[in-house]
Amino acid sequence: MQEDKRLLKTLYGLPNEGRPPFWFMRQAGRYLPEYREIRAESGGFMDMCFSPEKAAEVTLQPLRRFDMDAAIIFSDILVVPYALGIGVDFVKGEGPKLDAHDTPERIAMLAVTDVKEELELLYEAIEKVSSELPKDKTLIGFCGAPWTVATYVVEGGSSRDFAKTRKLAMKHPESFQHLIDVLVEASVIHLVAQVEAGAEAVQIFDSWAGVLPEGEYERWCIAPILAITEKFKALCPAVPVIGFPKGAGLRAPSFGLETGVNAIGLDMCVPLDAMKYISEAAVVQGNLDPILLALDKQGAVDRTKQILDAMAGTPFIFNLGHGIIPETPIENVEAVSQTIHAWKP
Ligand code: CP3
Repeated sequence: MQEDKRLLKTLYGLPNEGRPPFWFMRQAGRYLPEYREIRAESGGFMDMCFSPEKAAEVTLQPLRRFDMDAAIIFSDILVVPYALGIGVDFVKGEGPKLDAHDTPERIAMLAVTDVKEELELLYEAIEKVSSELPKDKTLIGFCGAPWTVATYVVEGGSSRDFAKTRKLAMKHPESFQHLIDVLVEASVIHLVAQVEAGAEAVQIFDSWAGVLPEGEYERWCIAPILAITEKFKALCPAVPVIGFPKGAGLRAPSFGLETGVNAIGLDMCVPLDAMKYISEAAVVQGNLDPILLALDKQGAVDRTKQILDAMAGTPFIFNLGHGIIPETPIENVEAVSQTIHAWKP
């Protein structure tokens, strides 16, 4: 392990010396003018992901301003379905549009393809960031959890209630299992390739874990993530995995044991007492509300101090409870970053 990397040390369960490490989910993005500039001169979001120069540049942009302890490679969870041959397009102002695979017949056509070859340019971006990143910073790779990615594949994009996906999983569980299995295999290939290119930790985003009731949660959220961590750890035993089961609520405390991840990302709805309780048995990451960060600078600073004080003495990573939103003022992010840098236990 590299001793000088604050984030990696915490992920290995070592107590923080002074302030905890921090980074922000979706830290590269539209709230930064320098991001919008590169975005404007790119053909589209996917073109940006597949341009190693541009992807590496926007990955590093937030660190220059806020001195976070980690860079997360600029890409998207939907590059995995893209690599599987499912059409993915990002329409400005409308979010992602996918070629919906919402019948057993369409899902049966899916098979693991040469994911690594398809995503070659993303790994080139990782190599670039890796060579430019300061020694004390950690480079994070990521993928979406199979359940969350499957919702986009079945619905053909974002959804309010995931009705099509839940119906398909209930009416045709073998068919939905096939989709999940393909996503597990492809995600492992993608995570391992990111590590080979220079990623030092990985995060699995299960943004929609919270919508699954008992039984389905175990089958479609827990089991596939366990399958990914087992396969991934067999190939990359020293690389820590962060799991982010957004909305898992009362199921968050057991998520680490059930899935084998090294750290649990908690969303902004998990109370501080519960965070402390969970941290007795696991490395915890979280959970400033991104809406508070965007709308109330002083409120965000005060809450940041509360979180830091409450989690003092535990192996804790400061983060947001969900991704940063485009309307977030830069000065608010600056104020929170400065608060973390200045904090002492
Ligand atoms: O800085 C980083 O964190 C790295 C990059 C990153 C992006 N997406 C870039 C992106 C990461 C880690 C993601 C993860 C992601 N993508 C998730 C999981 C986390 C979460 O927020 O729940 C999900 C569900 C997606 C799928 C996705 N991608 C949606 C629903 C959208 C449209 C909504 C939006 O924010 O525009 C995207 C597009 C996207 N991914 C953008 C960025 C910077 C905006 C694209 C643009 O510039 O037009």
